[in-house]
Amino acid sequence: MAHASYRAFVEQLDREGELRRISEPVATELEITEIADREMKSPGGGKALLFEKPTVNGAVSPFPVAINTMGSWKRMAMSMGANSVDEVAAELGSLMKAKPPMSFGETIKLLGTAVDLRHAKPKRVKDGPCKEVIQKFDAPPPRTEPWPAAPDVSDLATFDPRPPSLLDLPILKCWPLDGGRFITLPCVVTQDPDTGERNVGMYRIQIYDDRTTGMHWQLQKVGARHGRRYYETGARMPVAIFLGGDPVFPFAATAPLPDGLDEFLLAGYLRKKSIELVKCETSDLEVPANADFVIEGYVDPTEPLRSEGPFGDHTGYYTLPEPYPAFHVTAITHRKDAIYPATIVGIPPMEDFYIGAASVKLFLPIFKMNFPEIVDIALPAEGVFHNAVFVSIRKTYPMQAYKIMHGLWGMGQMMFTKYLVVVDDDVDVHNTSDVLFRLCANTDPQRDSLFTRGPSDVLDHATSEIAMGTKLGIDATRKLAGEGFKRPWPPLIRMDAAVRRKIDGLFGKTV
Ligand SMILES: Cc1cc2nc3c(=O)[nH]c(=O)nc-3n(C[C@H](O)[C@H](O)[C@H](O)COP(=O)(O)O)c2cc1C
Repeated sequence: MAHASYRAFVEQLDREGELRRISEPVATELEITEIADREMKSPGGGKALLFEKPTVNGAVSPFPVAINTMGSWKRMAMSMGANSVDEVAAELGSLMKAKPPMSFGETIKLLGTAVDLRHAKPKRVKDGPCKEVIQKFDAPPPRTEPWPAAPDVSDLATFDPRPPSLLDLPILKCWPLDGGRFITLPCVVTQDPDTGERNVGMYRIQIYDDRTTGMHWQLQKVGARHGRRYYETGARMPVAIFLGGDPVFPFAATAPLPDGLDEFLLAGYLRKKSIELVKCETSDLEVPANADFVIEGYVDPTEPLRSEGPFGDHTGYYTLPEPYPAFHVTAITHRKDAIYPATIVGIPPMEDFYIGAASVKLFLPIFKMNFPEIVDIALPAEGVFHNAVFVSIRKTYPMQAYKIMHGLWGMGQMMFTKYLVVVDDDVDVHNTSDVLFRLCANTDPQRDSLFTRGPSDVLDHATSEIAMGTKLGIDATRKLAGEGFKRPWPPLIRMDAAVRRKIDGLFGKTV
């Protein structure tokens, strides 16, 4: 079921007992984080939170803040308009089985066909609720001088907030050493200047002042690739950031889709209904008509890059300042009754675990198409996305675990995986304890490890150089004679099925 608006989703969460309303004033500087962090770390991901009176520099914002709205399996499914993420994954899987794609290109075509069948291609409309309030800004002259240091958050109080400006939005300062306020659930729309292909990615946005922000698209992301083309030609790059609207948008923006596949197609497929898009006020980019906020603007390739960060990140550490493009705001439009969606990242587990894990579930059929021996894949919360990946396989020939390691390291954002552990098909990869047991029991460390080199996540502070590092693959599968293993492999200890049944009958299933 498609959600007409983010507010409709928040109301549904409320009806289903998934929302805690907080009516006391709470500061957007650190206090919301402290409450949300406790909630996200409570069993099963806790509840979604709606801060009805968030304060910005002491003043109550006109816009409530919703957080942790995707932070459990149930809410993640609800954001997709489904009963469970498994149900969505099974449907996508059966689509792939009906006509297996042989490549990523074919996968894209197949998804396109599915969207056609559902009549879920985005369609252009003239107007929408995201334009109920419109504020346009004059373009500042291009800057050639180096940027001054980013202002301290407390300095923002000295700006005159002319509504609606960035400074009126209840944007969080998440952690004590953060370099300022950051928009943490932004969907960033860009276009390939050569092909016109659209991309929607989630890249955090640091607020520098009421009309300037950072643009944290990392080196290997599609927005950054589009950006590099503009830097080559020197042409001004239009960018639009939107927040809210259908709750499936943030998931689609974070999904590791191949470059060239429009995230609005995936979102339309998932919500089973076309997304209505409106043209921006100050550029030709299109954004969802039902968005809560739209921040329009541009990146100017003739300007120097600007220091972005520090930011308390997914990794559980602060990412230190790095140069990124500056984004200039040319317009802010919003719904009158807008809700500001946010998340926080930090030491796991956090809300983003469910976002990443849902991606893995959905894209597992695509991995299986390429590698039929794969049974399951898990990204444990402790590995914050790509640091650790566990894969179970049905091994039938020597060195197959190594084939999987190389294959996965070569697939899209799986390139960031630092530790890749391959286990047999009888291991539940979602049970970290089970994986560690097999890893310890089934490996001879030197023989079963593979070190290799490759691109790394730019957020990884442990690599000596940014964006490049080493990877460790561990083959924790049962060894075959064809792999040079000269001894008999012992059986795993398991009780007889008949005895288990008898004892279950006597005492019930206690384990
Ligand atoms: C909450 C959250 C925040 C994120 N922030 C960033 C970010 O600041 N920069 C970035 O490059 N990727 C960030 N990501 C990851 C990207 O959204 C993800 O890699 C996505 O697939 C990128 O899309 P693209 O391949 O279309 O560029 C974030 C993910 C989540 C869940």
